Order: sequence, then C-alpha cells, then structure tokens
Amino acid sequence: METERILLRYWEESDAVALFKYASDPDVGPRAGWPAHKSVEESREIIRTYFHNETTWAIVLKETGSPAAAGEAIGCIGYYTYETSNIPIGENDCEVGYWVGKPFWNKGICTEALKLMLDYCIQVKHFENIWADHFTGNPASGRVMEKCGFSDTGILNRCSQLVGGDKDKVKVFKYKG
Ligand SMILES: CC(C)(COP(=O)(O)OP(=O)(O)OC[C@H]1O[C@@H](n2cnc3c(N)ncnc32)[C@H](O)[C@@H]1OP(=O)(O)O)[C@@H](O)C(=O)NCCC(=O)NCCS
Repeated sequence: METERILLRYWEESDAVALFKYASDPDVGPRAGWPAHKSVEESREIIRTYFHNETTWAIVLKETGSPAAAGEAIGCIGYYTYETSNIPIGENDCEVGYWVGKPFWNKGICTEALKLMLDYCIQVKHFENIWADHFTGNPASGRVMEKCGFSDTGILNRCSQLVGGDKDKVKVFKYKG
C-alpha cells in the first residue's frame, strides 16, 4: 500500500533499531496505551511477538525525510479483528490502531496511512465497520480519525488492559464501510 510519500510494508527484525528510536520516546507509546520501549532487544522481541503478522504494517517514508532514511520504519498501523479488539465491535468489524514517531507529527503522515488502511479494510477485507478509539487526553488522534471520515459515537470506554487505561477513558469512533 502506498501514496506518493509513504509506503505501508510488513515489519522485519532489522527494523528493531528504528523501532527503538521512535518507540522509546515517552510521548508516543503511553498515549496509545503501551509502555515506551527500553532497549533495541525489547523492540526486536516486540517485532517478533506482535508485529510479525498480516494485520500490522510499518509506516515508511519513500524518500529520506530528516531524521529518517528512506525506507526506515517511522510508525506503525494495523487492525484488530473481533477476537482481539480492545472495544466491543461486531463480528464483521475491525478496530484500527496507529502511531507515528514524534519528529514526523503534524505533517499529515498518519492521516495518509489511515486512509490507505481504510481502503484495504473495506476493499480487500470487506469489513462492515471500522472502529478506532483514543484516550480523551489525546485529541490529535481524534483529529486524524475525523479527517479520515470517522464519526464520534459518543461512547466512552474503560480499557483497563491499556497502560494508563485505569486513569483515562477512550473515546470511541466509527467509520461505516
Ligand atoms: C496521534 C498521531 C498518530 C498523529 O499522527 P500525525 O502524523 O501527526 O497526524 P496528522 O499530521 O495526520 O494529523 C494530526 C492532526 O492533529 C492535530 N493536532 C495536533 N495536536 C493536537 C492537539 N493537542 N489537539 C487537537 N488537535 C491536534 C494536528 O493539527 C492535525 O490536524 P490538522 O491537519 O487539522 O491540523 C501521533 O501524534 C502519535 O503517534 N501520537 C502518539 C501515539 C498515539 O497517540 N497513537 C494513537 C493512539 S489512539
């Protein structure tokens, strides 16, 4: 999946150094409900355990864009099915999740990646509804959802399995496929 500027491709173990560079930032993971990475080895293990599947993609820049080299993983996007979603969704639905390294925030990269993901989820996987959620204290993520055509359902959910989920609720958004 690609646009002029970005490519979504599967993760490789050799992405561990780049993953650690961006996922060790305490401003990234905790906003999405997971802890900052503590070592390159931990990042490599996370690639092996959680990213080596057909539902998780690395977001890469096609051309060098400081501080990333062309092809370097600068973020992650993927979907969860009914069985693995954080929120109650229909059997034919999925939930999307994403993050982008801080040096690349507010350049429209996540919006571009989510639009690609939505196309894939609808045209290729034929999901009925696509769900997404964000901590109430993380409005930038809600803005990405709105820019991609998601609607605020008004549902506030407690997701205790997320890091920080005991302190903040998530706002639930839905995109009708
Ligand atoms: C949320 C995140 C993925 C957005 O990625 P991004 O590539 O910067 O997103 P985009 O540039 O496509 O869009 C960001 C939008 O949020 C807006 N925004 C930024 N900070 C904001 C804030 N504090 N309040 C409201 N909107 C904000 C930007 O202005 C932009 O909207 P605009 O185009 O209308 O100006 C990125 O900040 C991130 O990875 N954060 C940490 C992890 C995370 O939150 N993941 C999502 C978990 S639900």
